[in-house]
Amino acid sequence: MTLTATRFTERYLLDPAVNADPYGYLNSLREHAPVYWSAMHRAWLVTGYDQVMRCLRDPAVSADRVRPLMDAVPQGAREDAERAFGILSRWMVFNDPPNHRRLRQVFQEQFAARAVSRYRTFTERATGAMLARKAAPGRGGDLWTDIAKPLPALVFARWLGVSPAHGPSFWYWNAKVADLVLGVAQDEAEYRTSLQSLVSLEDYLGNLVTERTADPKDDLISSVLAGGRIGDTVTEQEFTGMLTQMAFAGGETTSNLIANTLLALLRDPALLAAVRAEPALVEAAVEETLRLDGPSKMSIRNAARDFDLDGHTVRAGDRIFLVTAAANRDPERFPDPDRFDLHREGSTHLGFGFGAHFCIGAALARLVAGVVVGVLVRDYPGLALDTPALGWQNSLLNRSLTALPVRY
Ligand code: HEM
Repeated sequence: MTLTATRFTERYLLDPAVNADPYGYLNSLREHAPVYWSAMHRAWLVTGYDQVMRCLRDPAVSADRVRPLMDAVPQGAREDAERAFGILSRWMVFNDPPNHRRLRQVFQEQFAARAVSRYRTFTERATGAMLARKAAPGRGGDLWTDIAKPLPALVFARWLGVSPAHGPSFWYWNAKVADLVLGVAQDEAEYRTSLQSLVSLEDYLGNLVTERTADPKDDLISSVLAGGRIGDTVTEQEFTGMLTQMAFAGGETTSNLIANTLLALLRDPALLAAVRAEPALVEAAVEETLRLDGPSKMSIRNAARDFDLDGHTVRAGDRIFLVTAAANRDPERFPDPDRFDLHREGSTHLGFGFGAHFCIGAALARLVAGVVVGVLVRDYPGLALDTPALGWQNSLLNRSLTALPVRY
């Protein structure tokens, strides 16, 4: 501990080398100080498992962070911001209890594992059809672009009730909303496009709600409407605001789970052989990927008031980065933490977060990733990585490949 501690030098989390392979650096940061004030990031970096859990349970740690996002908008784009930030303020992930509970309960039933299992057959068929079109055995291709990216998009569009004809605009708006929320938008023009895209997305989903009210179908919007809580527990405006979050949260995260799980298997022939020999282990592979190289690296919070964290005084208004990617490798919580273990027991990883904001889409994401990885492992005995050199999108929050070149 002391050796590492004395040698520790802080690095920028978006430094290309750290972003490409963050885990060695995050391990040394956690060993140095599981709660660390970073002047570089102007945030507390919390990397210890217990310390992250403590924050996720503490009402002094607030999820309300729309204001800082708004403050980042350049002056020239501010006039476009009001309605867009009104929408973001209705996202459950940015709300604290008790309001958060009121918003979330409207969707709870539709996301339960039993409810989402209705989409298994659709997912299996869509996977089969997409692989038949895009992944001829023996041919080379980019598994990220061919399969991992479009497949969850197809399932989520079907599940939300977005018709294939509207898919292109729907996913374009979504990508621009992601630029806003993930801090990719930089200049005025980019902010304008992102803010307007969020408004367009809400208008589109608002129209879908009107259509489904008159003529229900077999999709998420219709089943939430049938629950009778819209206009009662939450307003219609809150409902459409939350739907924009569903659209945003469902797509790329699940793509990354598929790609990162396949990467782990393709990099380790013994793991791949084990999963081939016992297909039920696909679920364990997805779960270990969520712990070791999951799509989400951290959750951001703000201190609502002064509080003590491991002997450090966190001040009201301070930013807190809950670095779940580091907590998930904490040796105090996970024996042999850097090892991909298909038989790990009782792994309460934080890949889907924890507590009030635990990912509501976890069952759906697990289902889609499990089906896609399972079919690829079963039906493509020659599947192999085409290059050891891989690129990662530069992002504080997401762990996302830029491509996954393979031989099918
Ligand atoms: C592998 C895929 C996914 C990962 C890794 C993931 C990860 C997460 C994480 C870490 C959180 C907690 C955020 C925080 O505490 O600040 C979260 C929340 C959330 N996720 Fe996911 N997610 C995934 C898929 C999905 C899907 C498919 C949906 C819906 C279609 C979804 C909807 C949500 C929503 C609505 C929240 C906010 C919940 C709340 O605030 O109560 N996610 N997700």
